[in-house]
Amino acid sequence: MTEMNFFDGMNRPGNAADLNETEKKHIPVIGAPGSVKSGEPFEVDVTVGSIMHVMEPAHHIQWVDLYADEKYLARIEFTPGFTKAKATVTLVLPTPGNVTLRAVERCNIHGLWENTQNITVG
Ligand SMILES: [Fe+2]
Repeated sequence: MTEMNFFDGMNRPGNAADLNETEKKHIPVIGAPGSVKSGEPFEVDVTVGSIMHVMEPAHHIQWVDLYADEKYLARIEFTPGFTKAKATVTLVLPTPGNVTLRAVERCNIHGLWENTQNITVG
């Protein structure tokens, strides 16, 4: 078995239907409505991950970035020992259409992980 280099780029699950424990602890969980109205604020919850990741000085989630398609929206930075890797952000999507909301997180030991959710903006 070859050793995995977590800092070689975006980490993705080997089998999305059968996540291992490392994947469950790192893939962001996005809680967002499936459809929203253009120009109206709505809340998005992001949690890392489906098994909450540890937040210790030696091993923690450093930040989560949010994008709508290619548009950068927000960064939430975390201080280990004082925060959990969970945040709620209020978004406003101004243009009707289909948008892919993307959350990217960085673990100081296990690198970058992402997840997406599609939102219809009416
Ligand atoms: Fe980690």
